[in-house]
Amino acid sequence: MKGLILAAGRGTRLRPLTHTRPKPVIRVAGRPILHYAVENLREAGVEEIGVVVSPETEKDIREALAGYPVRYILQEEPQGLAHAVAVAQGFLGPSPFVLYLGDNLFQRGIGRFLGAFREGVSAVIALVRVEDPRQFGVALLEGERVVRLLEKPQDPPSDLAVAGVYVFTPEVFPVIGDLKPSARGEYEITDAIQGLIDRGKRVVGVEVEGWWKDTGRPKDLLDANRLLLEELSPRVEGEVEGSELTGRVVVERGARVVGSTVIGPAFIGEGAVVEGAYVGPFTSIGPGARVVRSEVEYSILEDQAVLEDVAPRLQESILGVRAEVKSRNGLPRAHRLILGDLSQVELA
Ligand code: TTP
Repeated sequence: MKGLILAAGRGTRLRPLTHTRPKPVIRVAGRPILHYAVENLREAGVEEIGVVVSPETEKDIREALAGYPVRYILQEEPQGLAHAVAVAQGFLGPSPFVLYLGDNLFQRGIGRFLGAFREGVSAVIALVRVEDPRQFGVALLEGERVVRLLEKPQDPPSDLAVAGVYVFTPEVFPVIGDLKPSARGEYEITDAIQGLIDRGKRVVGVEVEGWWKDTGRPKDLLDANRLLLEELSPRVEGEVEGSELTGRVVVERGARVVGSTVIGPAFIGEGAVVEGAYVGPFTSIGPGARVVRSEVEYSILEDQAVLEDVAPRLQESILGVRAEVKSRNGLPRAHRLILGDLSQVELA
């Protein structure tokens, strides 16, 4: 079975972070979101993987996946998930395949969805119980069989939302070929699945085990970071001097932690510097980032981001690549920032 990861979206809900880099390359718990997708596919036995990219995202995605033997497929414009699948038809060929949304995270992998695929099944969809299904694709089941799919229904027929992993047979291609764009102008994968159901095909729903996260909004990224950090195995490969490390803390090779307090779960990336600082729970510090005389918790700092003299604490914040926050006098009591790559903030 082949795997197809979609990574060609615009990521509008994550602006400004996604103005300069695509969402699936943002790091959570120290690794680009896409790594988890590739690893989950491989763990489930999927060796041949294609990644759908856009002209804007291709370069960053190739960089993030350097060393992984994957094929890149270009979608000129993000015209919807079903459109992305159609673009990849040549790569996918005549066998069943797994479709994996590049911004989705599954705690327990995707083995159970592939496991539910068998002779006579045209599609498997991953389902997750949510409190407010109105913002999701929602499935109505009879036994294991999906009998209806509704996109963002006002009056949801169940609390089962569609999560971002699907298994399809090539039967889906002609259905996609017949689709019309939705009200938002996209070729929707939910319409393709409903098309299979309408043609009397068997579509099976399988509930997600463990947590599932769609990293569409900043708060989802921070939450995903928290969930992944909670599973971290502590490891110190960098240099730690006159500092206190408590709980699950990773200090990567080449990182320096000097005169600081780090309370895990926390991740300090390769070559990062933490000096005279407090790094609190659920924080990921990217490679080459610097946290100097500053306090930070429940935050993500991307590669080479800088915090200098920021105290009291920065929290629930995301700093893009090389974003900088420097304080002149350390006055404000708390900060909450979502900063795109290369942003600069002075707290004067
Ligand atoms: P979405 O979250 O639906 O879209 P997006 O990533 O562009 O974000 P936003 O809604 O904030 O603008 O997409 C899910 C995944 O699928 C994501 O990794 C991008 C990818 N995708 C494609 O590859 N091609 C497409 O045409 C679309 C719409 C999404």
